Amino acid sequence: MSDTAFIKYKDQSYELPVVEGNENEKAIDISKLRGESGLITIDPGFKNTGSTRSAITFLDGEKGILRYRGYSIEDLAEKSSFIEVSYLLIYGELPTADQLKIYKDEITKHTLVHEDIKKILEGFPSNAHPMGVLSSLVTSLTAFYPKSLDPNRSSEAVDKSIIRILAKMPTFAAWAFKNEAGHPVNYPDNKLDYCSNFLKMMFSLPTEDYEVDPVVANALDKLLILHADHEQNCSTSTVRIVGSSQASMYVSISAGINALWGPLHGGANQAVIEMLEAIRKDGGDTKKWMAKAKDKNDPFRLMGFGHRVYKNFDPRAKIIKKAADDVLEKLGVNDPILDIAKGLEEEALRDQYFVERKLYPNVDFYSGIIYRALGIPVDMFTVMFAIGRLPGWIAQWKEMRENNEPIGRPRQVYTGHTQRPYPEINKR
Ligand code: MLT
Repeated sequence: MSDTAFIKYKDQSYELPVVEGNENEKAIDISKLRGESGLITIDPGFKNTGSTRSAITFLDGEKGILRYRGYSIEDLAEKSSFIEVSYLLIYGELPTADQLKIYKDEITKHTLVHEDIKKILEGFPSNAHPMGVLSSLVTSLTAFYPKSLDPNRSSEAVDKSIIRILAKMPTFAAWAFKNEAGHPVNYPDNKLDYCSNFLKMMFSLPTEDYEVDPVVANALDKLLILHADHEQNCSTSTVRIVGSSQASMYVSISAGINALWGPLHGGANQAVIEMLEAIRKDGGDTKKWMAKAKDKNDPFRLMGFGHRVYKNFDPRAKIIKKAADDVLEKLGVNDPILDIAKGLEEEALRDQYFVERKLYPNVDFYSGIIYRALGIPVDMFTVMFAIGRLPGWIAQWKEMRENNEPIGRPRQVYTGHTQRPYPEINKR
């Protein structure tokens, strides 16, 4: 017997179907509500509104659960690799050994970008934020691969577009950094794995070779896994709604990169380090700054604490915290910023004010710390998030297209002027 809900409005009652997900979550399907009642719903930020049915990622904010295609984030972070997780998210199953080898080889074959990309890069001043460069270079793929503009191509053609952007994203990211650093770009080294290749393109200099530290490469691989997808977050919803107009994968992902840039979303990890720097410059008194965070009259806001979906803890933060401790110890990093971070963390986990408000350190708090310890420059932090989230954006765009989802077109409640005549005095 199908489940239903009733909306009673004035002297009418409207029966609406209730749909149930595989994890027992329930949703009222309101698609017929406006036609039957003239009523729409309103939910600024869509925090209580499901935009789609998806089989990619499940998260439970109350229980701190995050699973990609049914596999727990804890298992994947410990046992898998970012490339294998990207395959899982995009194609729905873990690859066999042969499938993984073919997939990896294909990605390796496509790390090189067209030489003309350099001309686009040279058009950016060195003060260009790497996120703006990245979204531009991703959009430029439509020029070098114009057939990718057709979203209704064969699955083989879509697979080729997927391989190309997965392969070229680290190259674009490293080149965006080199543009800002004023250094010559490095070409991919196809003898290296995904993360090692990225690190070498980032940090190699004509004057000195860069030896990839496996501790750093492994930590980066784990960070990318933890960021790979997160259900219908802001940037993923952006990718879906842009793609719903039948815009191509590359431009939909470029839109997602720009949505991720915001300090309330992917830019939070950069905002965390900027906050820690400000506290250090002010003398490093964490108790003073935590008191400021509690003071309603103080404009200071704590970055990297709490989460809009996770009500008790962010499962990714637990994993990253351990990774951060391991990396800092293995690399022997002594950084006053990191001491300040530890001070804030201890205060937030001890002080009832933060505990009651679930203001615990989140994934952005620890990822900023690790990226800093890995030597990643602060305005590349959100770029790192984008590299990690790329497989999720691809998987969500692909699912939306394969399900032939309709174009996204929300309604509104109008609050402007009602009709009024054009004033006589203005008549020409
Ligand atoms: C994410 O991973 O996208 C962030 O935690 C934000 C979110 O899920 O809303």
